[in-house]
Amino acid sequence: MDKFIITGGGPLQGELRISGSKNAALPILAATLLADGIVSLGNVPRLNDISTMVALLKTLGLAIEVGDEGKVSVDASHVTSTTAPYDLVKTMRASILVLGPLLARFGEANVSFPGGCAIGSRPVDIHLRGLEAMGAHIEIDGGYIRAKTNGRLKGAHILMDIVTVGGTENLLMAAVLAEGRTILENAAREPEIVDLAHMLVAMGAKIEGIGTATLTVDGVTSLRGCEYEVMPDRIETGTYLVAAAATRGKVRLTATRADILEAVLIKLEEAGAHLEVGDNWIELDMQGRRPKAVNIRTAPYPAFPTDMQSQFMAMNAVAEGTGTVTETIFENRLVQVSELNRMDAHILLEGNTAIVKGVERLKAAPVMASDLRASASLVIAALVADGSTLIDRIYHIDRGYESIEAKFHTLGADIRRVRQ
Ligand code: UD1
Repeated sequence: MDKFIITGGGPLQGELRISGSKNAALPILAATLLADGIVSLGNVPRLNDISTMVALLKTLGLAIEVGDEGKVSVDASHVTSTTAPYDLVKTMRASILVLGPLLARFGEANVSFPGGCAIGSRPVDIHLRGLEAMGAHIEIDGGYIRAKTNGRLKGAHILMDIVTVGGTENLLMAAVLAEGRTILENAAREPEIVDLAHMLVAMGAKIEGIGTATLTVDGVTSLRGCEYEVMPDRIETGTYLVAAAATRGKVRLTATRADILEAVLIKLEEAGAHLEVGDNWIELDMQGRRPKAVNIRTAPYPAFPTDMQSQFMAMNAVAEGTGTVTETIFENRLVQVSELNRMDAHILLEGNTAIVKGVERLKAAPVMASDLRASASLVIAALVADGSTLIDRIYHIDRGYESIEAKFHTLGADIRRVRQ
C-alpha cells in the first residue's frame, strides 16, 4: 500500500488547475447507460473511483474509450448485462448509481447491496422506495438488489424524507425515461446534481426546476448521445484553498468556479483570508497571517458541505482561538480527530461536534488515512507540522484527488509517495 511522506514547511504558493468533479463525473458516467448514441465527455478526472465506474460500465457491455485530457467516450448501444457485481460495488458505493438508469432503460437491474463504510451505515432505502413508487418490483436476495419492471417505469410524485444526493440522482435518471410526469420533492440541490441534470437535458431529457428542491421530469421514450464537459471539482478547489490558508500562503486556482463553493469561501474569509474571484479562477492570500479559528456546521447544499469539514478541522488545529466542527450528515465522520491528536492537535470530541483549540504548530507522527476527506485533513496537518509525517493507506486519497502530489509540488510542498 502506498504511503505519503510529507515534511511540513512554509506557506504554499503558486497557481494550479483544478480537475473535473469526481462527484459529477460518477453520475454522468452512469447516465450514459440511458443514451442510444455515443456520449462524449470532457474534463473527466483521472481517479480510482472513475476507473471503477468505467470498469463497471464495461462489465455491463458498454464500449468506452478513455482518451487524453479528460476525454471519455461511451457507447451504450450494446448492453450485455444488467448486473453490477459485488467485487466492484464493494470498492465504491457510488456504483449504486447504475440502478436507476439500468432499470429505466432495460426494465431490470441487479446491483450488489452496498455495505456500510468508514463514515457510517449509509442506507439506500430512499433510492429503493422511489423506484418502487415508479412501479418497480424490488427484492433483496443473496446480497443483491434485484429490481424489475413490467414495461416502462411510471411517473410518480416522490417526496424524499431526507435530502440525499445519490437518491436524487438515481431517481432523476430513472424518471427521464419513465412514462409520464415525475415530481421529486425535497431533492438535493448540490451543483453536481445540476451538472447531471444539464447533461440529461443535452441528451433530450425534459427536466424543470433544475437547481431547486422540486424537480419535475416529463419522461421521454429515448435519449440520444451528446457532448458534455464535467464541472470543476468544488471539493478539490476547497481543499487546496484550505491548505493554503492553514500554511499562511497565497494560491491562485484556475478552471474552477467561486459560485459553487460560497459557504466555504465565507468561512475562509472569516478565517482571515483575502479572496479575489473571476469567472473561472479563485485567488486566496493569507498575507502571511495565521488563520483565525472558525465554527463549521455541515448541512445539504447550499450550506457548508460535509466533504469539507475535515480540512477545516486541520486548519482550526493551527488557528488562533477555538473553533467547533459539527457534522450533521454522516454519523461517523469525525474519524480524523484521533489521528490529528496524534500530531499534537488539541481536539475534544463531544457527540457529533469536535472542539478544536488551535496550537501554533503540529508535530509529525505516523498516521493512517481512513476515508477520502479525512485523508485530506491529514495531508493539510502534515504541511503545518514540524518534521516528516508518514501517512499510510493513501489509496483513500487516490480515489478522489487527481495527481495530488504533483499539484502540491507546484505549490512548493515537500510531499513524496513511497510505493509498496
Ligand atoms: C454524496 C457524495 C459524498 C457526500 C454526500 C453528502 C457522491 C459520489 N458522494 O454521497 O461525497 O459526502 O453526498 O453531500 O456524490 N441516506 C439515507 N437513505 C438513503 C440515502 C441516504 O438514510 O436512501 C442518508 C445517508 O446515510 C446520509 C445522508 O442521507 O446520512 C446523506 O447521504 P447522501 O446525500 O445520499 O450521500 P451520498 O449520495 O452517498
